[in-house]
Amino acid sequence: MNDLTTLRLAADPDGIARAAAILRAGGLVAMPTETVYGLAADATNGQAVARIFAAKGRPRFNPLIVHLPDAAAAQAFVHWSDAAETLARRFWPGPLTLVLPLREGTALSPLVTADLPSLALRVPAHPVAHQLLQEFAGPVAAPSANPSGRISPTTADHVAASLSGRIEAILDAGPCGVGVESTIVGLTGTPTLLRPGGLAREEIESALGLSLADHAGPITAPGQLSSHYAPGASVRLDAAEKRPDEKLLGFGPVPGADLNLSPAGDLVEAAANLFAMLHAIDDGETPIAVSPVPETGLGLAINDRLRRAAAPRD
Ligand code: TXA
Ligand code: MG
Repeated sequence: MNDLTTLRLAADPDGIARAAAILRAGGLVAMPTETVYGLAADATNGQAVARIFAAKGRPRFNPLIVHLPDAAAAQAFVHWSDAAETLARRFWPGPLTLVLPLREGTALSPLVTADLPSLALRVPAHPVAHQLLQEFAGPVAAPSANPSGRISPTTADHVAASLSGRIEAILDAGPCGVGVESTIVGLTGTPTLLRPGGLAREEIESALGLSLADHAGPITAPGQLSSHYAPGASVRLDAAEKRPDEKLLGFGPVPGADLNLSPAGDLVEAAANLFAMLHAIDDGETPIAVSPVPETGLGLAINDRLRRAAAPRD
């Protein structure tokens, strides 16, 4: 994964056009925002989104924030609300992310939401991010452009130091102004502060005319959220072969697979297919067997999700 030549693009019209073309082709671009640099990919391209997780070395599929040029574009993906309208009018573009109920039938890869029924949306204020989003003209998934477990990057050099060779380009617009990540507000129920960040809690509360609830516990483990999808049927992992009563979700060149995450054994392809295939193979009763997936690269995140799917239910 460390064998790409990472281009350093100037934040001028030519550089922005090249960055948009890379996104369209399924590539990864480190994008400046006013908070921190984001690692951007086409949110409708499952393979591109899977590559974000591979580049960051994330051991888990955390849901990603989708970036859009304006609130009108954002509304196409979620069920909008009065509270969302109030906050978007007051604080977008800016360092505020809103989590709203996901609309059915969007073109987003299920990897973006980690298969949750909600979606995090942000309209960044950075002029270069705005121009890139306008030029790309589609939803852009972007976590902070740092390897998993490291601090967020606020300069192109920070990004280059840790992600060179793993991504196609860095769009260099100098240091980020805010320097901490966006504030995340959950609007799927009681308005809740999910992550403190670049926009003060008090400002949000005064705009809404209410106090935000506090989120209990970390939000970095969406698989622990009760709303998270688990198949209705039982799941057997590391299945060497398919038993007569089972359906087989294959990986690699295995015989008899009802669906195959990646016949070629490609972990990026497997990650891109994971959630959609878990849904498709699940009829609610026929037990699901899953071929072994290696514990390397994206295999860590894939196996993490599969273990959650296979865990005993109550
Ligand atoms: O300032 C920022 O927000 C930067 C720039 C690049 O936009 N992005 C960023 O992304 O900080 P990331 O992936 O490092 O952090 C996003 C957080 C994660 O903790 C994730 O779990 C949470 O947002 N998140 C995303 N979607 C969510 C959802 N549907 N429900 C709850 N939490 C969500
Ligand atoms: Mg981050």
